[in-house]
Amino acid sequence: MREKVNRIVIIGTGAVGCSYAYACVNQGVAEELVLIDIHEAKAEGEAMDLSHGMPFAPSPTKVWNGTYADCKDADIVVITAGLPQKPGETRLDLVEKNAKLFRGMVSDVMQHHFQGIFLVATNPVDVLTYITWQESGLPKERVIGSGTVLDTARLRYTLGQHFHIDTRNVHALIIGEHGDTELPVWSRATIGVEQIDTYLARNPLIKQEELDHLFMQVRDAAYHIIERKGATYYGVGMALVRITKAILNNENSMLTTSTYIEGEYGHRDIYIGVPTVINRSGVREVVEIDLNETEKSQFDQSVTTLKNVLNKVK
Ligand code: LAC
Repeated sequence: MREKVNRIVIIGTGAVGCSYAYACVNQGVAEELVLIDIHEAKAEGEAMDLSHGMPFAPSPTKVWNGTYADCKDADIVVITAGLPQKPGETRLDLVEKNAKLFRGMVSDVMQHHFQGIFLVATNPVDVLTYITWQESGLPKERVIGSGTVLDTARLRYTLGQHFHIDTRNVHALIIGEHGDTELPVWSRATIGVEQIDTYLARNPLIKQEELDHLFMQVRDAAYHIIERKGATYYGVGMALVRITKAILNNENSMLTTSTYIEGEYGHRDIYIGVPTVINRSGVREVVEIDLNETEKSQFDQSVTTLKNVLNKVK
């Protein structure tokens, strides 16, 4: 009997798609990696380049430049194709152009009876994940966006640097839009096993307003990186691998993916970054953590912002 192999299809071999592919090969995430791009020669060249490094990888990954027909037997289809932010552009500014592109791509995938999980990375990711769900007709649990997984990682990294604590001991979430209206959930943040305000009380040298400044650095990180190098791709590529491993390894890990909510946090019919338990079936459940008044109000604002943009392209 043919052994089950995990197949990932990546649509878009730009910087994000290739960073994700490179991370997948180096972490030995799946047995098959299919690269699809409108520029076929580019996808072919990327597949060749990645394949030549295979002797250095932890396990072999068969990488090839494929077609939408390869989606039929795929476990995950990752969409990174689309127009990226330019300096000074917000993620939401990309919505009209990328939404149109997405409807075409998702329809092409579904023509081959794809029955796996969509993982969306292209911005504005929350809106495009909704479009993907709507166009695919798949159950909402099998359409996931990268959401604020990268933002949460950026916050944990930044706090770890600030407190000189290993980021693995920093538990702090960013939820909401993957964008300017995202918010930190300070009321649930812990350093080690201590609530962050208890930790701050023991370290009078660190003030709450510093935390607010650190959050703004995280929220605006992409703008600062884009100003310097023109785009972001390594961080989001690694965030996509984190989500991919939670799916393929049936981890039941809690990640702040862009997930469809229907009543949680008092809102429905929107994709947005919320704590979500992810496993082989996709979304197992949305975790509705208690938010304080400020956080609830900020989350409501994030939902409103996303709904206003979504209504333009729905
Ligand atoms: C960023 C892109 C992925 O935040 O939106 O780097």
